[in-house]
Amino acid sequence: MQGVTVVKHPLVQHKLTIMRKKETSTAGFRRLLREISLLLCYEVTRDLELTSVEIETPLTTMMAPTLEGKKLVFASVLRAGNGLLDGMLDLVPAARVAHIGLYRDPNTLQAIEYFFKAPSDLADRLVIVVDPMLATANSAIAAVEKLKARGAVNLRYLCLLAAPEGIERFTKAQPDVPVYTAAIDERLNDHGYIVPGLGDAGDRMYGTK
Ligand code: PRP
Ligand code: URA
Repeated sequence: MQGVTVVKHPLVQHKLTIMRKKETSTAGFRRLLREISLLLCYEVTRDLELTSVEIETPLTTMMAPTLEGKKLVFASVLRAGNGLLDGMLDLVPAARVAHIGLYRDPNTLQAIEYFFKAPSDLADRLVIVVDPMLATANSAIAAVEKLKARGAVNLRYLCLLAAPEGIERFTKAQPDVPVYTAAIDERLNDHGYIVPGLGDAGDRMYGTK
């Protein structure tokens, strides 16, 4: 599928299977999400541009590779996005962070915004939006629209699980934003939940409901 990368790494798939199980505890779910986020972060940053800088090792000087350009921005869609964010910051500790508070209205499935805070210079940075679930794509589209309205031009979207319906809507609405996911499931149910899915990611992470 154009613009969509499915991360098929065996460790990702194994951990995702444990996360899907209904008997997996809140603590286990959170730990696995953090572990998976390291592996997904590796994939979504795989093609970042490098430049060379001169450094001194204890033995000599050399030209050594270093990331080019301004620091990345990780944009977490609250609440569940924070489960991916934490592990990503372990790998890229210097990244800047945007928080986008959105919740799905359970009746309309529209994304309702309740918070937004982002670095001011989004235009100069690669912005990686993180949220475990891409269901109807209402939240993902709203998050990307908001970031673009604040100047972001270079974005990627990273999730754990996607519905085919969400992928189709998102890639039509935001064709310039590549999607990375660990799996594309069968479908959405009548309540907008991904099937087979893993349930409500926020509730499973935080033990709410
Ligand atoms: C979940 C999930 C996404 C959204 C996906 O958040 O984390 O943000 O649903 O659904 P969509 O593609 O249909 O918009 P939720 O609204 O449950 O909020 P929470 O993270 O605070 O639990
Ligand atoms: N949000 C979730 O957390 N899970 C779904 O299956 C759909 C939206």
